[in-house]
Amino acid sequence: MPDGTGVARERRVLTPRVERLERVECVDRQDTFGDRIPNRVFESGQMLRLAPEARHRVCVPDQDDQLEGLLALWLGRLDPHSFPLKAWRRLLNRTLVTAGARLTEYRDPAGLVELRRAIADRLGPTRGIKIEPEQVIMVAGCQEGLNLTARLLLREGDTVAIENPAYQGAAYLYESYHTRLVPVRVDDCGLSVDDLPKEGAALLYITPSHQYPMGYTLTLERRLRLLDWAWRTGTYVVEDDYDSDFRYRDSPVAALMGLDSHDCVIYIGTFSKSLGPGLRLGYLVVPRHLAGPARAVKTLLDNGRPWLEQAVLSSFIATGGYTNHLRRIRQSYAERREHLMECLRRHFGETKVSGAECGMHIAWHLPQDLPRAPVLQTMAAERDVGIYTLRSGAVCDFGGCAYSERTILLGFSSLNERQIRRGVEGIAAAVDASHCCGGNV
Ligand SMILES: Cc1ncc(COP(=O)(O)O)c(C=O)c1O
Repeated sequence: MPDGTGVARERRVLTPRVERLERVECVDRQDTFGDRIPNRVFESGQMLRLAPEARHRVCVPDQDDQLEGLLALWLGRLDPHSFPLKAWRRLLNRTLVTAGARLTEYRDPAGLVELRRAIADRLGPTRGIKIEPEQVIMVAGCQEGLNLTARLLLREGDTVAIENPAYQGAAYLYESYHTRLVPVRVDDCGLSVDDLPKEGAALLYITPSHQYPMGYTLTLERRLRLLDWAWRTGTYVVEDDYDSDFRYRDSPVAALMGLDSHDCVIYIGTFSKSLGPGLRLGYLVVPRHLAGPARAVKTLLDNGRPWLEQAVLSSFIATGGYTNHLRRIRQSYAERREHLMECLRRHFGETKVSGAECGMHIAWHLPQDLPRAPVLQTMAAERDVGIYTLRSGAVCDFGGCAYSERTILLGFSSLNERQIRRGVEGIAAAVDASHCCGGNV
C-alpha cells in the first residue's frame, strides 16, 4: 500500500504483520485491479484464509510523516488546531452529567433522533434535500454508509457502475461484495452520462459535488440526465457528498438527492471533513421505502453509533456552534487554497488545476515541461515533500483513464501558508535540479 508520501515511502506504512504475511503468500489469482491475491497464507504454523479485500493496500496518510520531517500535502486532512475543543469539552461534560440511563441502555440503531432531526433540518437549506428524520441513519462516516448500502442492495455478481478514476474506499468495497465493476469515464463536466451502461446497474457510485479525485462538479444538465437514466433502468444511485461543506465559488449545487423525484438516490454525508475523522460520524439518507430495511441492516452491523458523541454533536448543531465552526474553517481553507494557487503560479507560471472551487484538495494538471506525475512525486519525496498521484492518493484507476500520468493531487487544508509555500518551493527546487541534470521525464 502506498502511504501518504508515495512510492519512496511505500513500504513504511505496511504493518509488520502485513509485511510478514506478504513474505509467505501463495498467490493464486488477480483481483479486479490487477493486484495479486493469495488464496491462503501461512504464518507461525497456522493457515489463515484471507478475503481478497484484506489484501488490498489501502492508502492512508502516514501518521508519523510530520514527525519525520515530511511535509505532506495529503488529501482531505484537517488542520489539527481546527477542532472546536473548548465548545466540545463544555458540551461533553454537560451531556455526561445529564446522561442518566442513556449510556447504559440500548438505543435506536438508526441513531439519536435529535441528531437525525438536526441533520434533516440542515439538508433542506444547504443541499436542497427535503426529508424526514426517519430517513437518516447515523453511520461511522461515509465508509460505513457505503458498506451499509452495499449490504442492503447488492448480491454477488451484480453490476456496479463507478467513476473512473474513483475513490479507492468505494471501489475496493464493491469488489469485496463480489460484484462486477463497470468503470465510467469522467471528464471536466463530471461523470460521462453517455457512457453509463445502457441496461443499468444494481447501483451507481458517484461523487457529483467534487469528483474524487479530479474535483469536477457534475453539471445540472448531466444530473438530470443521470437521474432519468437511473429511473428508466431501475438503478440505485449512491451519492457520496464527502466534502461539499467547502464550496468557495458559486452557490452550492443542489445534491442529486434533492433533484430526485423517483426515490432512487441514496445520499451519504460525513462529519469527517468538518470536525474530524476521529469522531467516526456520518449519515446515510435513504428514500422512504428503504428506511426500515436500512435500519434493520444497521442493527445487524453494530446496533448503532455511540450515544455520547451523537448527543454532543446534536447539541453543538442546536446551539449554532457547528454553523459558526464551518464558516470559520471554510474561510481558512479558502485562504490556504488561494495561497497554494499563488505559489504554483509563482513557480510554474500558468497553472491548470481542477476542483479548486470546492473541497480540500486540487488536481494539478502537469504542464508538458514537467516530469510525469510518478517521477515528480519521487523527486519531491527526496526533498521531503509529499505529493500524490492517482496511484498513491487513495484512488482507483481502472486503466484507460486520461489523467493517470499527468495529474498531481495536492491537499491544502491541514497546512498553514508557510508550510504550503515550503512544499511548493520543494517541488520547484526538485524540478530545477532535474532540468540542470538533463531532466528525467
Ligand atoms: C470520496 C470520499 N468518500 C468517502 C471518504 C471517507 O470518509 P469517512 O471518513 O466519512 O468514512 C473519503 C475520505 O477521504 C473520500 O475522499
